[in-house]
Amino acid sequence: MYRIGQEEINAVGRAILSRDFFKINGSGREVYNFEEEWKQLTGAKYALTMTSGFAALSSALIGMGIGPGDEVIVPAYTYIASALAVTSVGAIPVIAEVDDTLTIDVADVEKKLSPHTKAVMPVYIQGFPADLDALTALAKKYGFKIIEDACQADGGMYHGRYLGTIGDAGAFSFNYFKVITSGEGGAMVTGDRTIYERALIYHDASAVAFFGDQLNGIDQPLFGGTEFRVSDLTGAILREQLKRMPGILSDLRRNRTLLTKLTCAEGGAGGKHCKAPSHDIDGDCGTTLPLRFDSAEECRAFQQKAAEKGVGTTVPIDTGKHIYTNWTQIMEKRGALHPAMDPFLMEANKGLQHNYSADMCPRTLDLLSRTAYVMISPDWDEAEIGRIADVINNC
Ligand SMILES: Cc1ncc(COP(=O)(O)O)c(C=O)c1O
Repeated sequence: MYRIGQEEINAVGRAILSRDFFKINGSGREVYNFEEEWKQLTGAKYALTMTSGFAALSSALIGMGIGPGDEVIVPAYTYIASALAVTSVGAIPVIAEVDDTLTIDVADVEKKLSPHTKAVMPVYIQGFPADLDALTALAKKYGFKIIEDACQADGGMYHGRYLGTIGDAGAFSFNYFKVITSGEGGAMVTGDRTIYERALIYHDASAVAFFGDQLNGIDQPLFGGTEFRVSDLTGAILREQLKRMPGILSDLRRNRTLLTKLTCAEGGAGGKHCKAPSHDIDGDCGTTLPLRFDSAEECRAFQQKAAEKGVGTTVPIDTGKHIYTNWTQIMEKRGALHPAMDPFLMEANKGLQHNYSADMCPRTLDLLSRTAYVMISPDWDEAEIGRIADVINNC
């Protein structure tokens, strides 16, 4: 959570005092207005607000018609929710290496394609854009869909377009740790009418046909789904957070740029460190400066010295459920609450690529072991950035 305050309190207070904060038919229409504003900003054609990023990912997969018998390629470095969204729809996550930017390695994706591959999920971890030009070209060549996990990249961009709006569908998270937050929350966007209609039906299974006129103009037949609907309280907070987002991002990017300039050789100011590359440094959310070392030992020595001098860093190999080796449910293949619903046991998924092993993505483990993240604050002033840069340059 970066910034929140009285404006959000006022917005929620207004919604509560209206005594009418159910999403559908509510007089405040906070969620609908948030969706309109999110679409206007990002250029997405359709948007649905949901309870979480996971909800948005699984609704997008359902929207694409993905299920048993299908494979979805996910990067080896992402929060476990990305892979669990795939098993939640009965499909199999196939795990691919990340490239030097710590986003999905398109060359490894190509190696892992099979006749069962229905989608590939680039994930913008820490707001880092993936190589979407190469991935889009591959998708055109082989005919798979792209589902963008932009959960850590609210407001991030790639070559001038908003992350999440470039593939067939995109998912955002607004949980406590994200660029903007409603405590918990998420949104799915798509430009595809069928994906939208199926996600609409799935994410609000019981209420979609009961409340309001949500099914007006909807061609897809009703099917059973789940309940990921949010209230206007979430919408009210998100509308205020959306007003803050450009400022949060520009302050993060400005501070990350200055810190890079002062500490990294490629910054041009004589810094000695090496920044991990980016597929679009201007679109990157700026939440993190990823320093890259030649070895894990060097990286640890840097981390320890910086900590002694009062600058904390994170080595991503330490980030638990963000690394495939720690995805217990996936690695041990318990994909559902009942064996009959477990994608790893389904007849339709026999022969698909789910022979997971801890050493299957060595390049990812190596890169994660020799990268140190300096987490950026949008609220630092130049003096603070100078102090941090001095520490980094002396480690
Ligand atoms: C990359 C990524 N994907 C998906 C999710 C799931 O989002 P949520 O926690 O809102 O369900 C997260 C959340 O931390 C995430 O970081």
